Amino acid sequence: MVDFDFDLVVRDGTVVTSFDCFSADIGVKDGVITAIGRNLRRGREELSAEHQLVIPGGLDPHCHIEEVAESGSVQEETFETGSKAALAGGTTSLICFKPQWRGHSIKSSAPDYLERASRALADYSFHQIITDPSPEVLDQEIPTLLALGVRSLKVFLTYDPLRLSDGQFISVLSKAKQLGMMVTVHCENYDAIEWLQNALLAAGKTAPVYHAWARPVVVEREAAHRAISLAELVGQPIQVFHVSAGAVADEIERARKRGSKVWGETCMHYLTHTIADLEKPHFEGAKVVCSPALRDEGEADRLWAAISRGTLNVISSDHCGFSFAKAKRDPGSSAYGQGTALLNDDGTPAFNSIPNGVPGIETRMTVLFNEAVTKGRLDLPAFVRLTSTNAAHLFGLKGRKGDIIPGADADLVIWDPTREKTINVSDMHQAIDYTPWEGYSAKGWPTTTIRRGEVVVRDNQILAKAGTGKLLPRA
Ligand code: URP
Ligand code: ZN
Ligand code: ZN
Repeated sequence: MVDFDFDLVVRDGTVVTSFDCFSADIGVKDGVITAIGRNLRRGREELSAEHQLVIPGGLDPHCHIEEVAESGSVQEETFETGSKAALAGGTTSLICFKPQWRGHSIKSSAPDYLERASRALADYSFHQIITDPSPEVLDQEIPTLLALGVRSLKVFLTYDPLRLSDGQFISVLSKAKQLGMMVTVHCENYDAIEWLQNALLAAGKTAPVYHAWARPVVVEREAAHRAISLAELVGQPIQVFHVSAGAVADEIERARKRGSKVWGETCMHYLTHTIADLEKPHFEGAKVVCSPALRDEGEADRLWAAISRGTLNVISSDHCGFSFAKAKRDPGSSAYGQGTALLNDDGTPAFNSIPNGVPGIETRMTVLFNEAVTKGRLDLPAFVRLTSTNAAHLFGLKGRKGDIIPGADADLVIWDPTREKTINVSDMHQAIDYTPWEGYSAKGWPTTTIRRGEVVVRDNQILAKAGTGKLLPRA
């Protein structure tokens, strides 16, 4: 009987780590990388990566999947469809959001949520959303999250009924500090949005594009400045979610120069889409209604500059899909909006009651590769850091996820940097019926996705079974 040194060897690829690129084989045993070098001995299974890159599986730390609202409505993207989409796009780990409904304990909000998540094919963890930081939630419930490996809290400074007052936000920051947790923040000023949108609606301006008029950069910049200031006051690290504009990144940069522990994330759609996409006729603009809103032409250049300076060091999807045929037209389908269900004459919702969010879990890696690497904006290790390493470090998965190093989980993607293909929703695995990148041509695609040493996608075919993803405890 042949005795193999490895369960799997990925041979002859250009290995891209968070800091280097070199030609090597990768040996995997029991789901873990055990050797990186030339001419490794035989594996039970062998894969050739000749003329291709081998990169760490992506870690998408901002995905809204199968969230259950207090009304009982459930997001259409399930852990099964969402993680198939993730794996097909080269992402092997997700951090999703465990809901808390206002007026409810954490425990009584969506009590079946972990059971739903157990259908995942990708590995997964959670940020705990806090919408109601009562003394019981702060002192009794949040500490119990640590046993689940949940080490980050998510708060919203806008949306009803999700937003926190400044006082509530301070109480969450202070609890997180006591427990050693990270806090992630959606920064927009609720009252400023309310004032602007009331004026727009009163003037009969209801089309999707007015979503952006009601949420200009200053609304995000003020809230980011406030969130950073309050975090400084408490001495608690935060990550500012989905930074959409250079002026917001500047707030982060200034704070970092003062020595503040604040990080910034942006999302793929802010780098490729603009307010012009919200102006598309026949309600098509609703497809890209998200918050913060899409910005003017030129803003993406400021974001790229902030990325290259390291101010924005994570690029996530903020995958939050609502089907165009159904959910985008149903104002009751989500808490991600701001306002009563005002309808236009054609039955479509006014801009303020369109559910906010775009799907991007499946396209994040390939669109970023094309924009960053193929177009020459960033080098390969930077691509790896932005799509996995930096999020792994921030969220307690360093050494296990997000890099190709001995001892890490063998989450690997064989990536063809020369393959050109046009994005078409009919080739995709997500449950959502559209993609904002329909017709976008990208050079650089995953050809094989490996999760903990197992080939889970080959040429866009999903080979893994539902329920094989693992809950990731975080340090
Ligand atoms: O529009 C967005 N971003 N929807 C998802 C919820 C959130 O704000 O992250
Ligand atoms: Zn948000
Ligand atoms: Zn989000």
